[in-house]
Amino acid sequence: MHIPDLSQDKNHQEMIAELMTNGQEHLFANWDAPGTNDEAKAAFLNSLARINGSYPGGLTGYISNARKLLAEAKIGANPFEGFVPHQPDKVDLTQFNAAYDRYEALGKNHFDKTAVVLVAGGLGERLGYSGIKLDIPVEVTEATSYLAHYAACLKAMEARMKQPKSVPFIIMTSDDTNAKTVAALEANNWFGLKKEQVHILKQELVPAIADNDGRLALQEKYKLILKPHGHGDIHMLLHTSGLAAKLQKQGIEHFVFIQDTNGQVFNALPAALGVSVEKGFDFNSIAVNRIPGEAVGGLAKLVKGKTELTLNVEYNQLDPLLRATVSPQGDVPNEQGFSMFPGNINVLVIRLASYVKILERTRGIIAEFVNPKYADGTKTTFKSPTRLETMMQDLPKLFGPDEKVGVTIFDRKWSFSANKNNIKDAAAKHAAGGTPESGTTAESDFYLAGRMRLAAAGVKVETAKEELILGIPFTPGPRVLLRPSFAMTLAEVREKIKGGTISGDATLVLDGKDITLENVEITAGSALVIKACDGAKVTVKNLKVKNDGFELVKLSADEQTSSATPEYLRIRGYRIVSRAAKVCEFNQPGTFGL
Ligand code: UTP
Repeated sequence: MHIPDLSQDKNHQEMIAELMTNGQEHLFANWDAPGTNDEAKAAFLNSLARINGSYPGGLTGYISNARKLLAEAKIGANPFEGFVPHQPDKVDLTQFNAAYDRYEALGKNHFDKTAVVLVAGGLGERLGYSGIKLDIPVEVTEATSYLAHYAACLKAMEARMKQPKSVPFIIMTSDDTNAKTVAALEANNWFGLKKEQVHILKQELVPAIADNDGRLALQEKYKLILKPHGHGDIHMLLHTSGLAAKLQKQGIEHFVFIQDTNGQVFNALPAALGVSVEKGFDFNSIAVNRIPGEAVGGLAKLVKGKTELTLNVEYNQLDPLLRATVSPQGDVPNEQGFSMFPGNINVLVIRLASYVKILERTRGIIAEFVNPKYADGTKTTFKSPTRLETMMQDLPKLFGPDEKVGVTIFDRKWSFSANKNNIKDAAAKHAAGGTPESGTTAESDFYLAGRMRLAAAGVKVETAKEELILGIPFTPGPRVLLRPSFAMTLAEVREKIKGGTISGDATLVLDGKDITLENVEITAGSALVIKACDGAKVTVKNLKVKNDGFELVKLSADEQTSSATPEYLRIRGYRIVSRAAKVCEFNQPGTFGL
């Protein structure tokens, strides 16, 4: 084959030769003569070289993986052929009981051996927010962004260590989110974290594929079509950056993988970590109960001979698999009305000892798949170019008999409430009986978690009636924000709060390690906000709080569409306004009473 001399750069020229011998002649056919479109040609070669360098095995590796997966897709290979589904090994922590406390205590002791991995490269098309999702406030009483909340949780983990040290925080970004993520960190002084503890790994797009031979698709001459490869890229990046191995050497034992807009995730994290430690799970999926047929992936143990794999099975594959094997009625409910296959929420606790080995073996390419939409039954052409994808929850597909996979089930609202949908789609989902997963429901559930903590500590909580705001359910209160600095476990809440009541749309915000409340009553509509710096010990005893507090004000139709209204309010349809809340700030160490 004649390889044309298209670049002065030796590396580029070698890459061109390699691609041409791998069926990619079309990428370099009909090039203009030197002197014409040279800039476009250089940009094209640079983009090829960047992907070549970032994908383990380079572009030819990507093409050969694509050919193999496309050949399998063409014959319609059933990935679950011969597997029989069973219930996964699970620990049920849906109730706050002694077992829950025990696991929380175990997990809390393990904070110094834990790192948090946040996948935040997603575009968020369904939400349609103009900025990054991490910048959106999870609540608008104090307008705490997701990123600020996650950082506060890490700081709180550190404050609970016997010998405090930084919790490594790994954030995966993409071209869509990287600059704004870095800007948010810089503008907020890294939210109190040390710059060195934050590791940003940017995922790259992958080339789209035009046909079963793995020919890369061109948008125009000198321009590839590029598409997202999925959140499974995090595994590849943790390998190629050397970070997983490095942190393991530094004594980190578990990575907890979280998503960009789940304000509830740290509620479940201590107990889930405790389960991983006690049960020796290499891979622990934080899961929730799901109704049979619900559009949430089900976690199942699949058994074929001596092979056992506990995996997320997409809900539309689970039912046929059950019908074809153990359950002619498909996915049927248990006595509580739930499927026997808990719902995956993609919060994962992974043990580094096995993870690092798997990354080395696979170079971090975790169970890629392809989902081509064929033009017709011959399966020879695609309706539009496809690409390889990867999902972070598929790691157990690479596990052998020695790796232990388990599932820890939490109350859904306690552990998961994401902000994924714009206000219109969220309302439509609610009307159709589905879960809105919007800014409104995420905020409502964020306060609910606070109420759950108070109730677990014996506070009398009189909850307001749920209402609809622009067709989306919201519970007006009590709006309870027990900041991570105040409590990371239920035991801490019980130690610090004794008795008392809170009602209706009252507000309680507690931020600081050394605040105790005894027999405090907060009447409907009233608010108590206490912020105490380290070293400030604040005791509140026998206090009845009655003031004008905070008011939830719905946006008018004009405000709802006006660009003068912050976008984070428009995705909810309301604001929360301080009227006459009792706000007590203690910025100096000392002992104080209220
Ligand atoms: P989502 O399901 O929320 O997808 O991703 P998305 O791409 O962000 O949003 P839509 O589908 O366009 O509306 C789950 C998590 O995975 C991350 C997201 O940032 C989110 O935390 N993600 C997704 C990545 O990090 N990279 C990807 O390529 C895709």
